[in-house]
Amino acid sequence: MDIIAQQITRILNVGRCTIFLKDGQRKELWSKIAQGKGLEHTEIRLPLNGHSIVSLVARTGQSINITNAYEDERFSMAVDMVTDFHTKTLLAVPLKNNSGKVLGVFLVANRSDEKPFDKKDEGILLLLATLAASSIEVAKLYQDVHVAQLETIYRLAVTAEYRDQQDTRAHLKNISIISYLLALSLGLTKKQAELIKNASPLHDIGKVALADTILLKPGKLTPEEFEIMKSHTVYGGKILEGAHSKVLQVAHKMSLYHHEKWNGNGYPYGLKGEMIPLEARIIAVADVFDALCVSRVYKRAWKTDEAYNYILTEKGESFDPSVVVAFKRIYPSIRKLYAQTAADAELMQPVEETPEIVEPIKTVRKIRTAPKPPFSN
Ligand code: C2E
Ligand code: SIN
Ligand code: SIN
Ligand code: FE
Repeated sequence: MDIIAQQITRILNVGRCTIFLKDGQRKELWSKIAQGKGLEHTEIRLPLNGHSIVSLVARTGQSINITNAYEDERFSMAVDMVTDFHTKTLLAVPLKNNSGKVLGVFLVANRSDEKPFDKKDEGILLLLATLAASSIEVAKLYQDVHVAQLETIYRLAVTAEYRDQQDTRAHLKNISIISYLLALSLGLTKKQAELIKNASPLHDIGKVALADTILLKPGKLTPEEFEIMKSHTVYGGKILEGAHSKVLQVAHKMSLYHHEKWNGNGYPYGLKGEMIPLEARIIAVADVFDALCVSRVYKRAWKTDEAYNYILTEKGESFDPSVVVAFKRIYPSIRKLYAQTAADAELMQPVEETPEIVEPIKTVRKIRTAPKPPFSN
């Protein structure tokens, strides 16, 4: 939107261009301020059924051309006040999709030659609005697909975990937060860290293949039973093998290798050191820390600091030393997170309906980072 607004400002040679998008849920029109010192990320919201030029255009689908804004009672000063701008002439056109539905409003103000806007300006602005509308719709479709994908992943993960976990949601959420913070602390990009965060709930997906008699056994597993238990990594690997999406590719590595150990004593393959994919070395720490902090049918919960000390003692043994160092750095936040989780459990507060990891991402960010469509390269 910033880029479109900049181009329009240049092409029409105007003092300001603002793009408003319709937020159907909140019944508002919103815009990120692209111009103005220090206002780059300020969000402006106007009620959809309010008295402003923008909302009028959005409601009627008709353009409005005004030669003296401050004398027009329909004009809302809201934006001028934040941007320290004096709107004189103004042209607002609807942003419509192919089927004529209004998605938002394009607004330009103050031609640099101080003349009123004419039919030619309106034609150009409408044309640009049409072009923008299709990109916005495509971006929205991607967002829907992305949210649907995250939801599916999360629900699949719940399916795998709910048999042996009392508090699946908090558990999955905590593991994904730890993995995310570890990834960032290790210097991975935000994008990589998000993939790791979104993939992490699936690391134990292979447990769906295990019989209750083993998974839910209240006591210690026999060596034979533990051999079977180990196969959840291989099953997880098979379930996620050859996945097309990046997030499932990460999930594949995590599920197959999350019980490998840095010293080579893990399973299923006994890989050592950096032979183990980094994603798996990250989830390994998050998984064990969380497993220790909660109670299972076979064990009681450890205190947070006990679990932390265990992670430190396994540096260079079970875990990649650099991941343990990262864990040390993020531990203050993790400690707070688990104190909060414990407090929530005590109060028996219902966990909110929508887990954090599937919250829809703000439209503006999605437009900038729209993922590629599935099956395209
Ligand atoms: P999980 O319960 O999610 O535990 C994941 C990992 O956390 C374990 O991997 C282990 O590395 C660590 N962990 C969990 N609890 C403890 C503990 O009390 N002490 C120590 N030192 N580490 C702990 P691991 O051992 O490969 O086990 C994989 C999965 O096998 C476990 O996942 C759990 O589902 C199952 N499992 C392991 N041991 C037993 C057991 O004695 N009885 C039963 N019923 N299940 C077990
Ligand atoms: C209006 O809609 O009335 C004015 C909005 C703006 O100046 O951006
Ligand atoms: C991987 O992404 O497969 C491995 C990356 C690493 O180990 O550094
Ligand atoms: Fe596991």
